Amino acid sequence: MSQPNVFITRQLPASLEVLKALASVEVWTERQPPPYEVLLDKIRHADGVLCLLTDPIDRPLIESGTQLRVISQMAVGYDNIDVGTATAKRIPVGHTPDVLTDATADFAWALLMAAARRVVEADRFTRAYQWQTWEPDLLLGSNIAGATLGIIGLGRIGQAMARRARGFDMRILYTNQERCDPALETTLNAEFVTLDELLQTADFVTIHTPLTPETHHLFSDRQFQQMPRSAVLINTARGTIVDPDALYRALAEGQIAAAAIDVTEPEPIPADSPLLSLDNLIITPHIASASRQTREKMATMAIANLIAGLQGERLPHCVNPEVYP
Ligand code: GLV
Repeated sequence: MSQPNVFITRQLPASLEVLKALASVEVWTERQPPPYEVLLDKIRHADGVLCLLTDPIDRPLIESGTQLRVISQMAVGYDNIDVGTATAKRIPVGHTPDVLTDATADFAWALLMAAARRVVEADRFTRAYQWQTWEPDLLLGSNIAGATLGIIGLGRIGQAMARRARGFDMRILYTNQERCDPALETTLNAEFVTLDELLQTADFVTIHTPLTPETHHLFSDRQFQQMPRSAVLINTARGTIVDPDALYRALAEGQIAAAAIDVTEPEPIPADSPLLSLDNLIITPHIASASRQTREKMATMAIANLIAGLQGERLPHCVNPEVYP
């Protein structure tokens, strides 16, 4: 029997040895993602694909994969994949939850602290030889300890943020599609509030909700207008949750004090984006899960999902378990 064909859309930080014993594996070795036409061509002949969040695995692509048996994404989010079409074709879709929770929350916390205390601006200031003396009002930021944190989406990463916030004696507010279990609220010391209440009250707002039609541009002018002028926004979820034009207006007009974003709309951020001119905005290139250990675990998990799919077994981490009888 011939071996199944697998296409992997980028080089991974994990061994492919076990996979190569089971399948004929082709890896896209360039730094940029495979162009759509290439993806289409490869998937047409693939039994399995291992993809990244930069690969648009849309309906035409899934439908062209006549022998496709598994789609395995090396990320927890999967808004780049048309899961509905995959499910209709009974193709399981894998992802990599849990292993990146702490790394992502650590990074979101780093952004929160950097934005609150203007760390990036201070570094730029110092390198520009502007540091002339100690000044009582030089680069003033805001307190983190004792402040109020608003978490949008109390899933795995939102909860990890709440655990960090407890160490800083913060009041913790959250919104979620559904209210969480009271026992979890007690453990995390988190209060369920409406989005409006959260925006009006929180000193720091951190986004940890998936990108869905409902969360697309969840942050627009109206949301920024409700926030205190001293508020700080952190986004490590998906760029499209925040309208970039509204974010620019909010920061440029001092509607909020600062923001720190690891994700943008679009990605990468265009070189002529006005956001790049703002001193009160920190922008990083979608690296919240990027610790060596975490990326190795994500790649290993994505390979395990892929192998399970090729072998007709249930994926250990499947986003559409309804494909199974
Ligand atoms: C990263 O953004 C992920 O979804 O894993």
